[in-house]
Amino acid sequence: MKNALLVLAVILFSSVVGDSLTKIGVNKLADEDVISDAEAKWRLDAIRKLWTERKRMGHTPLIKYQPPGFPNTIIYMKNETATPTRTLKHRFAWALLLWAITEGKVTSKTSAVYDSTSGNTGSAEAYMCTLVNVPYIAVVADNLEPEKVKQIESFGGKLKKVPVSQRNKEARETAEKTHGFYMNQFGNAEKAEEFHESGNFLYESTNVFHEILVQLKQLNKIPTVPDYFIHNAGTGGTISSVGRYIVRYGAPTRVVLSDSQYSLFYDYVLKGKFTNQTGAGIWKAPGVAGIGYGYDVKPVIYGETTSLTRNVIHEAVKMPDIATVAATRVLQEKGYNFGPSTALNFLVALFKAYQHKASKSTENQTIATLGNDPGDYYTTTYLNNTWVDQKFADFGGVQGMNCWKTQIQNSIDTGSDFYTKGLTLCPGEY
Ligand SMILES: *[C@@H]1O[C@H](CO)[C@@H](O)[C@H](O)[C@H]1NC(C)=O
Ligand SMILES: *[C@@H]1O[C@H](CO)[C@@H](O)[C@H](O)[C@H]1NC(C)=O
Ligand SMILES: *[C@@H]1O[C@H](CO)[C@@H](O)[C@H](O)[C@H]1NC(C)=O
Ligand SMILES: *[C@@H]1O[C@H](CO)[C@@H](O)[C@H](O)[C@H]1NC(C)=O
Repeated sequence: MKNALLVLAVILFSSVVGDSLTKIGVNKLADEDVISDAEAKWRLDAIRKLWTERKRMGHTPLIKYQPPGFPNTIIYMKNETATPTRTLKHRFAWALLLWAITEGKVTSKTSAVYDSTSGNTGSAEAYMCTLVNVPYIAVVADNLEPEKVKQIESFGGKLKKVPVSQRNKEARETAEKTHGFYMNQFGNAEKAEEFHESGNFLYESTNVFHEILVQLKQLNKIPTVPDYFIHNAGTGGTISSVGRYIVRYGAPTRVVLSDSQYSLFYDYVLKGKFTNQTGAGIWKAPGVAGIGYGYDVKPVIYGETTSLTRNVIHEAVKMPDIATVAATRVLQEKGYNFGPSTALNFLVALFKAYQHKASKSTENQTIATLGNDPGDYYTTTYLNNTWVDQKFADFGGVQGMNCWKTQIQNSIDTGSDFYTKGLTLCPGEY
């Protein structure tokens, strides 16, 4: 009986092995091309163009800032506005396109790349797609700042304007219908962003924290590892790639998410909330441009609507949006031409500086953060008093903003607690 079963098994097995698909024989070529010569050449050209672009970009400068009121805190702000498309999305769009080409999602046959964007990723994606000769279409909110529309077009992109909550759906569906590729920056950032140490073989690691470590070592002549890395999340791609790098290589740095007032990310990161419910009814426009999660009609789904990796974040901090508007103005007055998302990073850095001082520590602490995009993109909005009066009426408009400005400026100068003072002295329900 046992033998009979064995015979049966051998017969079944050989009938599977004997399938012509897997047979090796004299009439069958042992070497066949998977990718055509023309396609392989297109891919290699495109990848080489991207690496040339990367070298050209070099390291964006670190700005050292020491708030007079907090002598034990040094803030390093990486000036991402020094890239060709003037925002931190330059390195991000580069990583996305490199990933998409490597994975064969974008080929010479791709009709166009589509993405849903609040502007800055769109400009940078337009730039990168133009570099490799693939058409690019940005699907944007119908009220996108005119400065950002101009930017996208100037880098060779086209625009499709839709209501803000429809952006992702529209980009995905149009790409499907036209044999294009939907880049989905929100879902794919975590796949595209580098979080490895390359040992600088051939090309340096493209992780932005790696770059900061290299620069701090050059600047201070000794290795300097920041105590904090503070950054906000739009897609979550940048902060997650930094967090992964820090956790993976055992750096002592704490990763801090700086979130906007009505964003769902804070609760998502802290408690895993909103993975099964939307932010409809919670989100309040205008928020902080490009930051936070809320206006998407879908819940926060990792790998689909967000790339924010919860596990590699150590702390989450929320700031009132009106305080962020005030901080944008404070930075402008100091000659730092950055937009509101940078101001939010700066506010949280100031908050960590205050906490450090309040803890009576005498040690120096180092904070690294990013200068995301330039202030002049926001002359019609966050830097426009009429607009602030309209959009932040619940928080006293310009008057409320000026109240926060006073608290922030005092904190910088004297080391006071802008956060508690602003919440108690400035108008509005927080
Ligand atoms: C950031 O870099 C840009 C471009 O090089 C420069 O114009 C700007 O002054 C820099 N910003 C700061 C605050 O240093
Ligand atoms: C989402 O999940 C949580 C915990 O699993 C549950 O308490 C809550 O009711 C769920 N919400 C919805 C809208 O399904
Ligand atoms: C902190 O940094 C300042 C310079 O910024 C230096 O003078 C001081 O010695 C440092 N303190 C400690 C405890 O390292
Ligand atoms: C300022 O904002 C108001 C209200 O949104 C708008 O009508 C006006 O054109 C803006 N001004 C500038 C200079 O952008």
